Amino acid sequence: MDTHRTTPGPGPLLCALERIEQAPQADTLIDGLRKGVRALPLGPARDLLHGRPLGHPAHPLLVQVPIGTWLSATVLDLLPGRARRTAAPVLVGVGLAAAAPAAAAGWADWAELPPEQARTGLVHALANTAGVALYAASLYARARGRDLRGRALALAGLAAVGAGGALGGHLAFRQAAGANHAEQVGHRVGDGWHPLGPAAAFPVGRAALAQVDGVDVLVVREEDGTVRALADRCSHMGGPLSEGGIEDGCVRCPWHRSLFRLSDGWNVEGPATAPQPAFETRVVEGLAEARLIRVHRPHRHGRGPAAA
Ligand code: FES
Repeated sequence: MDTHRTTPGPGPLLCALERIEQAPQADTLIDGLRKGVRALPLGPARDLLHGRPLGHPAHPLLVQVPIGTWLSATVLDLLPGRARRTAAPVLVGVGLAAAAPAAAAGWADWAELPPEQARTGLVHALANTAGVALYAASLYARARGRDLRGRALALAGLAAVGAGGALGGHLAFRQAAGANHAEQVGHRVGDGWHPLGPAAAFPVGRAALAQVDGVDVLVVREEDGTVRALADRCSHMGGPLSEGGIEDGCVRCPWHRSLFRLSDGWNVEGPATAPQPAFETRVVEGLAEARLIRVHRPHRHGRGPAAA
Protein backbone atom coordinates (compact mmCIF):
# COMPACT_ATOMS: atom_id res chain seq x y z
CA MET A 1 0.00 0.00 0.00
CA ASP A 2 1.34 3.43 -0.91
CA THR A 3 1.06 5.38 2.36
CA HIS A 4 3.52 8.15 1.45
CA ARG A 5 0.99 9.82 -0.84
CA THR A 6 -1.16 10.57 2.19
CA THR A 7 1.64 11.29 4.71
CA PRO A 8 1.11 14.85 6.02
CA GLY A 9 3.45 17.54 4.65
CA PRO A 10 5.04 20.38 6.63
CA GLY A 11 3.24 21.29 9.85
CA PRO A 12 2.16 24.76 10.99
CA LEU A 13 5.48 25.47 12.75
CA LEU A 14 7.57 24.78 9.66
CA CYS A 15 5.15 26.75 7.51
CA ALA A 16 5.40 29.71 9.92
CA LEU A 17 9.21 29.59 9.76
CA GLU A 18 9.12 29.52 5.98
CA ARG A 19 6.77 32.51 6.00
CA ILE A 20 9.32 34.43 8.07
CA GLU A 21 12.04 33.59 5.52
CA GLN A 22 9.90 34.89 2.67
CA ALA A 23 8.46 38.02 4.34
CA PRO A 24 10.12 41.13 2.86
CA GLN A 25 8.37 43.69 5.12
CA ALA A 26 11.40 44.32 7.32
CA ASP A 27 13.99 44.31 4.52
CA THR A 28 14.57 48.07 4.64
CA LEU A 29 15.23 47.88 8.37
CA ILE A 30 17.46 44.83 7.84
CA ASP A 31 19.50 46.60 5.15
CA GLY A 32 20.03 49.60 7.41
CA LEU A 33 21.01 47.49 10.41
CA ARG A 34 23.38 45.36 8.36
CA LYS A 35 25.09 48.44 6.93
CA GLY A 36 25.46 49.79 10.45
CA VAL A 37 26.98 46.55 11.78
CA ARG A 38 29.35 46.29 8.81
CA ALA A 39 30.45 49.91 9.28
CA LEU A 40 31.51 49.39 12.90
CA PRO A 41 35.30 49.83 13.13
CA LEU A 42 35.95 46.43 14.70
CA GLY A 43 39.24 45.64 12.94
CA PRO A 44 40.60 42.14 13.68
CA ALA A 45 37.96 41.72 16.40
CA ARG A 46 35.39 41.16 13.65
CA ASP A 47 37.11 37.90 12.62
CA LEU A 48 37.25 36.87 16.28
CA LEU A 49 33.49 37.45 16.54
CA HIS A 50 32.93 35.38 13.40
CA GLY A 51 35.01 32.59 14.97
CA ARG A 52 37.64 32.40 12.23
CA PRO A 53 40.38 31.18 14.63
CA LEU A 54 38.04 28.40 15.79
CA GLY A 55 37.28 27.23 12.27
CA HIS A 56 33.53 27.58 12.85
CA PRO A 57 31.16 30.33 14.05
CA ALA A 58 31.78 31.52 17.63
CA HIS A 59 28.15 32.46 18.29
CA PRO A 60 26.82 28.91 19.00
CA LEU A 61 29.67 28.40 21.46
CA LEU A 62 29.17 31.73 23.25
CA VAL A 63 25.43 31.25 23.75
CA GLN A 64 26.11 28.18 25.89
CA VAL A 65 26.89 30.37 28.92
CA PRO A 66 23.70 32.46 29.08
CA ILE A 67 21.48 29.51 28.16
CA GLY A 68 23.18 27.26 30.72
CA THR A 69 23.13 29.78 33.57
CA TRP A 70 19.54 30.88 32.91
CA LEU A 71 18.30 27.31 32.72
CA SER A 72 20.15 26.51 35.95
CA ALA A 73 18.59 29.57 37.60
CA THR A 74 15.14 28.35 36.64
CA VAL A 75 15.86 24.89 38.04
CA LEU A 76 16.89 26.55 41.33
CA ASP A 77 13.80 28.75 41.18
CA LEU A 78 11.67 25.62 41.21
CA LEU A 79 13.39 24.22 44.29
CA PRO A 80 12.58 25.09 47.90
CA GLY A 81 15.17 26.52 50.28
CA ARG A 82 17.58 29.41 50.70
CA ALA A 83 19.99 28.38 47.91
CA ARG A 84 17.43 29.58 45.42
CA ARG A 85 17.31 33.10 46.84
CA THR A 86 21.10 33.55 46.78
CA ALA A 87 22.36 31.48 43.87
CA ALA A 88 19.63 32.04 41.27
CA PRO A 89 20.19 35.83 41.02
CA VAL A 90 23.92 35.22 40.57
CA LEU A 91 23.22 32.82 37.71
CA VAL A 92 20.82 35.30 36.10
CA GLY A 93 23.47 38.04 36.37
CA VAL A 94 26.23 35.86 34.89
CA GLY A 95 23.91 34.97 32.01
CA LEU A 96 23.19 38.65 31.35
CA ALA A 97 26.93 39.46 31.29
CA ALA A 98 27.67 36.53 28.98
CA ALA A 99 24.83 37.49 26.63
CA ALA A 100 26.76 40.56 25.46
CA PRO A 101 29.63 38.79 23.61
CA ALA A 102 27.24 36.12 22.37
CA ALA A 103 24.99 38.79 20.87
CA ALA A 104 27.96 40.67 19.37
CA ALA A 105 29.12 37.50 17.59
CA GLY A 106 25.59 36.84 16.38
CA TRP A 107 25.17 40.35 14.96
CA ALA A 108 28.54 40.15 13.18
CA ASP A 109 27.50 36.89 11.48
CA TRP A 110 24.00 38.17 10.77
CA ALA A 111 25.29 41.23 8.89
CA GLU A 112 26.73 38.96 6.18
CA LEU A 113 23.66 36.80 5.58
CA PRO A 114 21.50 36.81 2.44
CA PRO A 115 17.89 38.09 2.78
CA GLU A 116 16.09 34.86 3.68
CA GLN A 117 18.53 34.04 6.48
CA ALA A 118 18.69 37.66 7.62
CA ARG A 119 14.90 37.73 8.09
CA THR A 120 14.96 34.61 10.26
CA GLY A 121 18.02 35.99 12.04
CA LEU A 122 16.24 39.24 12.89
CA VAL A 123 13.32 37.40 14.51
CA HIS A 124 15.84 35.17 16.34
CA ALA A 125 17.59 38.31 17.64
CA LEU A 126 14.28 39.93 18.68
CA ALA A 127 13.28 36.82 20.65
CA ASN A 128 16.65 36.76 22.40
CA THR A 129 16.51 40.50 23.09
CA ALA A 130 13.12 39.96 24.72
CA GLY A 131 14.73 37.18 26.77
CA VAL A 132 17.54 39.47 27.91
CA ALA A 133 15.06 42.20 28.86
CA LEU A 134 12.97 39.73 30.87
CA TYR A 135 16.02 38.38 32.71
CA ALA A 136 17.20 41.93 33.45
CA ALA A 137 13.74 42.69 34.86
CA SER A 138 13.91 39.45 36.84
CA LEU A 139 17.22 40.46 38.39
CA TYR A 140 15.83 43.89 39.25
CA ALA A 141 12.74 42.38 40.85
CA ARG A 142 14.84 39.97 42.93
CA ALA A 143 17.10 42.83 44.05
CA ARG A 144 14.00 44.62 45.33
CA GLY A 145 12.95 41.53 47.25
CA ARG A 146 10.15 40.59 44.87
CA ASP A 147 11.17 36.97 44.57
CA LEU A 148 8.02 35.53 43.07
CA ARG A 149 7.90 38.22 40.41
CA GLY A 150 11.60 37.63 39.68
CA ARG A 151 11.02 33.92 39.19
CA ALA A 152 8.04 34.48 36.92
CA LEU A 153 9.99 36.93 34.78
CA ALA A 154 12.87 34.46 34.52
CA LEU A 155 10.49 31.76 33.37
CA ALA A 156 9.12 34.09 30.69
CA GLY A 157 12.72 34.93 29.72
CA LEU A 158 13.52 31.26 29.33
CA ALA A 159 10.51 30.82 27.04
CA ALA A 160 11.66 33.76 24.88
CA VAL A 161 15.23 32.45 24.73
CA GLY A 162 13.90 28.99 23.90
CA ALA A 163 11.95 30.41 20.96
CA GLY A 164 15.08 32.30 19.88
CA GLY A 165 17.10 29.11 20.14
CA ALA A 166 14.61 27.21 17.96
CA LEU A 167 14.88 29.95 15.33
CA GLY A 168 18.67 29.79 15.61
CA GLY A 169 18.54 26.05 14.99
CA HIS A 170 16.39 26.61 11.91
CA LEU A 171 18.80 29.28 10.72
CA ALA A 172 21.88 27.11 11.21
CA PHE A 173 20.63 23.70 10.10
CA ARG A 174 17.77 24.33 7.69
CA GLN A 175 19.08 27.55 6.15
CA ALA A 176 22.77 26.57 6.52
CA ALA A 177 23.88 29.93 7.93
CA GLY A 178 27.33 29.41 9.41
CA ALA A 179 27.79 26.02 7.75
CA ASN A 180 30.83 25.23 5.65
CA HIS A 181 29.50 25.47 2.10
CA ALA A 182 32.55 23.74 0.65
CA GLU A 183 32.47 20.70 2.91
CA GLN A 184 31.12 18.36 0.22
CA VAL A 185 34.13 18.90 -2.05
CA GLY A 186 36.18 16.27 -0.20
CA HIS A 187 33.42 13.72 -0.75
CA ARG A 188 32.96 14.45 -4.43
CA VAL A 189 36.55 14.67 -5.61
CA GLY A 190 38.32 11.33 -5.95
CA ASP A 191 41.89 10.68 -4.80
CA GLY A 192 44.79 11.04 -7.19
CA TRP A 193 45.62 13.45 -9.98
CA HIS A 194 42.96 15.00 -12.20
CA PRO A 195 43.48 16.95 -15.44
CA LEU A 196 42.67 20.69 -15.29
CA GLY A 197 43.57 21.55 -18.88
CA PRO A 198 46.56 22.87 -20.84
CA ALA A 199 48.56 25.06 -18.44
CA ALA A 200 49.13 27.69 -21.12
CA ALA A 201 45.36 28.10 -21.48
CA PHE A 202 45.09 29.66 -17.99
CA PRO A 203 45.73 33.42 -17.97
CA VAL A 204 48.60 34.62 -15.80
CA GLY A 205 47.50 36.35 -12.58
CA ARG A 206 43.79 36.07 -13.30
CA ALA A 207 41.07 33.75 -12.08
CA ALA A 208 39.88 31.03 -14.43
CA LEU A 209 37.42 28.19 -14.02
CA ALA A 210 37.98 24.44 -14.53
CA GLN A 211 36.30 21.29 -13.25
CA VAL A 212 37.46 18.25 -11.28
CA ASP A 213 35.01 15.37 -10.84
CA GLY A 214 32.13 17.74 -11.53
CA VAL A 215 33.34 20.27 -8.93
CA ASP A 216 34.07 23.82 -10.11
CA VAL A 217 37.70 24.77 -9.48
CA LEU A 218 39.29 28.20 -9.48
CA VAL A 219 42.62 28.09 -11.32
CA VAL A 220 45.27 30.83 -11.28
CA ARG A 221 48.56 30.61 -13.16
CA GLU A 222 51.28 32.66 -11.51
CA GLU A 223 54.05 34.50 -13.31
CA ASP A 224 56.61 31.74 -12.61
CA GLY A 225 54.27 29.18 -14.18
CA THR A 226 53.01 27.74 -10.88
CA VAL A 227 49.37 26.73 -11.16
CA ARG A 228 47.15 27.29 -8.10
CA ALA A 229 43.77 25.61 -7.68
CA LEU A 230 41.01 26.02 -5.07
CA ALA A 231 37.41 24.80 -4.98
CA ASP A 232 35.43 27.60 -6.60
CA ARG A 233 32.39 27.81 -4.29
CA CYS A 234 33.29 29.85 -1.22
CA SER A 235 33.13 28.02 2.11
CA HIS A 236 31.21 30.96 3.63
CA MET A 237 28.03 31.06 1.53
CA GLY A 238 29.01 29.52 -1.81
CA GLY A 239 30.14 32.67 -3.64
CA PRO A 240 32.00 32.14 -6.95
CA LEU A 241 35.69 32.72 -6.20
CA SER A 242 36.51 32.66 -9.93
CA GLU A 243 34.67 36.01 -10.12
CA GLY A 244 36.78 37.46 -7.32
CA GLY A 245 39.97 39.50 -7.42
CA ILE A 246 43.50 38.13 -7.07
CA GLU A 247 45.52 39.95 -4.39
CA ASP A 248 48.99 39.12 -3.13
CA GLY A 249 48.75 35.35 -3.57
CA CYS A 250 45.14 35.24 -2.41
CA VAL A 251 41.65 35.41 -3.91
CA ARG A 252 38.99 37.80 -2.55
CA CYS A 253 35.44 36.40 -2.60
CA PRO A 254 33.14 38.77 -4.53
CA TRP A 255 30.18 38.24 -2.18
CA HIS A 256 31.39 39.09 1.34
CA ARG A 257 35.10 39.65 0.76
CA SER A 258 36.62 36.67 2.56
CA LEU A 259 40.26 36.27 1.53
CA PHE A 260 41.68 32.81 0.78
CA ARG A 261 45.34 31.99 0.21
CA LEU A 262 45.79 30.36 -3.18
CA SER A 263 48.60 28.01 -2.09
CA ASP A 264 46.61 26.15 0.58
CA GLY A 265 43.10 27.67 0.78
CA TRP A 266 43.65 29.19 4.24
CA ASN A 267 41.01 31.81 5.09
CA VAL A 268 43.32 34.72 5.79
CA GLU A 269 40.35 37.05 6.41
CA GLY A 270 36.68 36.29 7.25
CA PRO A 271 33.77 36.20 7.43
CA ALA A 272 34.51 32.65 6.17
CA THR A 273 35.44 30.52 9.18
CA ALA A 274 36.41 27.42 7.19
CA PRO A 275 39.36 27.31 4.81
CA GLN A 276 38.75 26.66 1.14
CA PRO A 277 39.46 23.15 -0.22
CA ALA A 278 42.77 23.41 -2.05
CA PHE A 279 44.59 21.28 -4.60
CA GLU A 280 48.25 20.62 -5.11
CA THR A 281 49.14 20.93 -8.76
CA ARG A 282 51.71 19.84 -11.30
CA VAL A 283 52.27 20.35 -15.00
CA VAL A 284 53.01 17.20 -17.02
CA GLU A 285 53.88 17.70 -20.68
CA GLY A 286 52.01 20.99 -20.72
CA LEU A 287 48.89 19.61 -19.01
CA ALA A 288 47.99 21.06 -15.59
CA GLU A 289 46.83 18.46 -13.08
CA ALA A 290 45.39 18.80 -9.60
CA ARG A 291 45.11 16.57 -6.52
CA LEU A 292 42.94 17.51 -3.55
CA ILE A 293 44.86 18.28 -0.36
CA ARG A 294 43.21 16.23 2.38
CA VAL A 295 45.56 16.93 5.31
CA HIS A 296 47.15 20.22 6.33
CA ARG A 297 50.06 20.85 8.68
CA PRO A 298 50.80 24.07 10.63
CA HIS A 299 52.09 26.89 8.48
CA ARG A 300 55.66 27.85 9.39
CA HIS A 301 55.91 31.36 8.00
CA GLY A 302 52.49 32.85 8.48
CA ARG A 303 49.04 32.30 9.83
CA GLY A 304 47.11 29.14 9.07
CA PRO A 305 47.96 25.68 7.75
CA ALA A 306 49.97 24.61 4.76
CA ALA A 307 49.53 21.60 2.52
CA ALA A 308 51.06 18.37 3.77
S1 FES B 1 30.27 33.84 0.03
FE1 FES B 1 30.57 35.11 1.74
S2 FES B 1 32.67 35.54 1.71
FE2 FES B 1 32.38 34.20 0.06
